[in-house]
Formats: sequence, C-alpha cells, structure tokens
Amino acid sequence: MAAAFGPEYAAADPVIRPSQFADFQANAALPLAKRLGRKPRDIATAIAGQLQVEDICREVEISGPGFLNLTLRDDWIGLQADRQLADARLGVPTPTPQRIPIDYSAPNVAKEMHVGHLRTTVVGDSLARTLGHLGHTVIRQNHIGDWGTPFGMLIEHLLEVGEDSADAALLATDPNAFYQAAREKFDGGGDFADRARLRVVSLQGGDADTLTIWTDLVDLSKGYFNRIYAQLGVTLTDADLMGESRYNDVLADICDELEAKGLAVVSEGALCVFLEGFTGREGKPVPLIIRKSDGGYGYGTTDLATIKYRAQQLHADRIAYVIGSPQHLHLQMVFTTARLAGWLGGTEPIHVQIGNVLGSDGKILRTRSGAPVRLGALLDEAVERASAVVDTARPELDPAVRAEIAQAVGIGAVKYADLSVAHDTEYTFDFDRMLALSGNTGPYLQYAAARIRSILRRAAEQGVAAEPGTAILIDEKAERALGLGLLGFGATVEEVGELLEPHRLCAYLFRLAQTFTAFYDACPVLKAEDPQVRASRLQLCALTLAVLVQGLDLLGVTSPEQM
Ligand code: ARG
Repeated sequence: MAAAFGPEYAAADPVIRPSQFADFQANAALPLAKRLGRKPRDIATAIAGQLQVEDICREVEISGPGFLNLTLRDDWIGLQADRQLADARLGVPTPTPQRIPIDYSAPNVAKEMHVGHLRTTVVGDSLARTLGHLGHTVIRQNHIGDWGTPFGMLIEHLLEVGEDSADAALLATDPNAFYQAAREKFDGGGDFADRARLRVVSLQGGDADTLTIWTDLVDLSKGYFNRIYAQLGVTLTDADLMGESRYNDVLADICDELEAKGLAVVSEGALCVFLEGFTGREGKPVPLIIRKSDGGYGYGTTDLATIKYRAQQLHADRIAYVIGSPQHLHLQMVFTTARLAGWLGGTEPIHVQIGNVLGSDGKILRTRSGAPVRLGALLDEAVERASAVVDTARPELDPAVRAEIAQAVGIGAVKYADLSVAHDTEYTFDFDRMLALSGNTGPYLQYAAARIRSILRRAAEQGVAAEPGTAILIDEKAERALGLGLLGFGATVEEVGELLEPHRLCAYLFRLAQTFTAFYDACPVLKAEDPQVRASRLQLCALTLAVLVQGLDLLGVTSPEQM
C-alpha cells in the first residue's frame, strides 16, 4: 500500500475475505478509492502492480468494480500445511493476553439444575477452554445461588432431619425433593415458619452456629453439582465457587456508595437505581431495586458487588456473563449502573445470552408430569441410548471399551447440541437428532476422527506410516480443498475467542469433516500407487485428525479411539 500510495497508507487494511470466485479477495480498493478520490479499478490495478506475492499466489485478477481475486499456489498451501502439522498449536495464534472472568453454570443450592443450567455450563466451559488455549487468563466464577431468604427454612429443615439422614442425602441426589419438604413445613406455618424467619436473621447476622449448618447444607449440594460436572466432563471445581454469599459483607457499602453518588434514590421505601433508557410498559422507568423496604438486599445488589469485584479486584479486561437470555435486561442495568458508578475503567462486561432449551411441545423442556427434568437422569439416558447403538454396531469389542465409547458419544452428543446452535437461539432437545451419525452432530465428528485414526492405524500395521516431516503435496482438487480448509483453523479459534461464539468452531469442524470425506472419496490413501503420494495423503489425514481432536477438545467433547 505504501509503495502504491505513499507511507501514510502503510497500515491500510487489505480487507481480505474468502471469495466465491477465487480463494480470497482483497476489497481494499473501494475504501481507498474514496479516500484518494480515484476510481476503484485504478486503485486495484495500482495495488496489483506493487504486489509481490509470486511465492504465495498463483493468480491475481482484478474483477468487478475493483476487487482483487487471489488464488493461492498449491505448493504454498502444502508448505503451510507442513508447518501447521509441525506446530503444536496447529496454527492457533496467541493474541494479546487478557484477564477474563467467566460467569457460568451458577446453579442454586437445594435446587435441581435444569437444562438452562446445563447449557450455560457447557457453553461457558467451552469458552473457558478456548480462551485459555488462546493464552488468556481465564478466571472461572461459579456464581451459585447459596444465599437469601429460603435458606432459613432449608437450614431449619436440615436441622430437623439431621445431617446424616436419608432426607439430607437427597440434597446430593434429588435436591428438589429436599426443597419441597422444607417448603411444605414452612407453608404449614406455625413454629417452623417462625424459626425459619429467625434463622434468616441469624444467617445474615453471621451467627457462628447458623453458618456451620449453612456450610453443611452448601457442602451437600456441592456433592450434587460435582457429580453432574463429572458426568459432563466440565472443568469446574470447588475452587471456582464464588457464590452469592461471598458478596454479603459488602452489600451495605455498595448501597451507600451508589446513594452517595446520586445513582440510587429511595422510592416507596426501597433504595432503587433508575436508569435512562430502561423503561417498561407505558414508558414507566424500571427500577433496579438494591435494598428492599424491609432492609434486605437482593439478586441485583449482589450482581453489582460482583461486577465491582471482577473489574477492580480481578482486573478483568472482559467479563463473560454466560447466562440465560431472560436475564438480559437485568444484566444491562447492572452493567450500566457499574459504568455510571465509575467501577469499570477499561473492563468490558459482555452478556453471552443463552437461549432456552425446548421440549418437543415448543415449551421449556419438562418431564411429562410437568416437573423439571432431572439433569442426571437426562445424561444417563443419553449414555444409555449411545450404548444401545454401540453394542449393536460393535459387539466384538470388549464391554469396558464399549462403555467408554458410549459415555463419550452420549455426553458428547448432548454437549455438542448445546454448542452447535448460536448460543442465543432457542432449540428443541431431541435425542434422535443429537445422537445421529450424520449432520452437524457430536457423534458425526467423533466418527470422522475415529475413522481417520483407523486409517493411520492400518498404515502403521502395513508398515507404510509416513515418516515425520514428510511433505504434503497438493495436486488433486480434493487435496487442495482439504489443505485450504485445515489452514482456517487458527483464524476460527481466534474468532471464537473474540466473539465468544463456540458455534463457529462447530460449523468449521463440521465443514472440515465433510471436506475430508470428499477428499477420502476422491483420493485413495492406503491404496495410492505412488508411495510419495500415499505418505503425503497420510500426512493430510494426520493433520485433519489433529485439528478435529483439538477442536473437539476446545468444545469439551472427547474423541474416542474407535467407534
Ligand atoms: N443462579 C442464577 C440462576 O439460576 C444464575 C446466576 C447467574 N450469574 C449472575 N451473576 N447473576 O438463574
């Protein structure tokens, strides 16, 4: 650019995009023409005249009003693929590192996790893996619901049944049943309800005995969360728990500060933040209530304390809130208040909205009786269904191996279904579709990887495995398409890290697996006549496998050795 138009154009963006007519097109001529007051086609010609890309491009063609169509050289694609295969990062860049707290999963103590929690857990975990792989400092923040008025009745109920009772054990196996039992006693009124109310006061006042029982209650629930996390293979541990209770001590200060700054005002006895642009029906301003008229604090107050902590204590560059779409308005109000309070500095909070998971009736997924779906049972069913398929398809395998495959496929299918749809859109939970071996599914990609593993295994058995460092030769059209597809991996992962959209990685891997199938149909690998061609194709297989496995790993989906 500098050579064509002068040094002030040295940093001009070449605006390179994938093209329908060539491999890529450079669209820089159009914006530059405006800036320079010249015809775009002349600009394109001037750029083309200065391009020194003989070793990269086979063809540079000016088309249309001034696009530059770029067609890569086959040997350059081969060379890049060689480098990618030799690179442990498979071409994934390391952008400027950021500190990124991720708020995800966040189930509630003594409540069943529902499919909504499942989806934020799966999407959040994939973002944590991907951002970590890109070199960012990821700080997992499991903002569990472990505080508030229901804890009075939950603690009293636990005290009555005893910590070691079968009733208490329900917390780890069927938390809703425990909750219901406490609720029924509470709704019965009388003595129990009175004690429960007093207990809330003791809890908020930091009474030592109350805190001990509260800790037991939370610990029993952790057992439940951790069992689900283990079943899912997500990376959350107890060290990532940063629940609502952790902010209890600063809530009063948060209110005082916002009041002093003139952001919060008392309205009908409650301390509220009113924000410009946040109006409900009839143009009435919606308040963010931070202290109720009875003096209690709420979910919003805690979220304000949380965002301040993340911005100022965790020094976040970005904060990813992986939370259901219905909480969008709430979070926007929290973000805006934090900004107005001057807490954010350079921190950028982002709501990664999670769409609802629906049942076949188009409503939020529930069991036939209308109860919320038991997540553990749902995951067990996924594995059972996968197991039925594996047992029929591969009866010759050792039962332990079959069980391992079924686990990977069943869980992988559920997770991939959550990830492959844009995170903010709703989708219908459908076992048959997510477990299908065709289409954009987890099992399809796992199968593609397993098939390549088997090709490489057979090559080794036949003593024809490619020597490490064997060059990839691009000759056939299908080889070229695969090589080009593989080179897009790094940019895709980088984009997922910027946009926080894992479905883009799913779409990339799905396309790659299809491109591989087309290659495998068109180009014999083990049966290739020329040993050099065979070795080169085996290298293409190895690189495809590495990209698929790494890509699935960033999604949190395991790839079984065989299927
Ligand atoms: N526990 C909440 C729920 O189950 C989600 C919390 C999300 N995180 C937050 N910072 N508000 O809906």
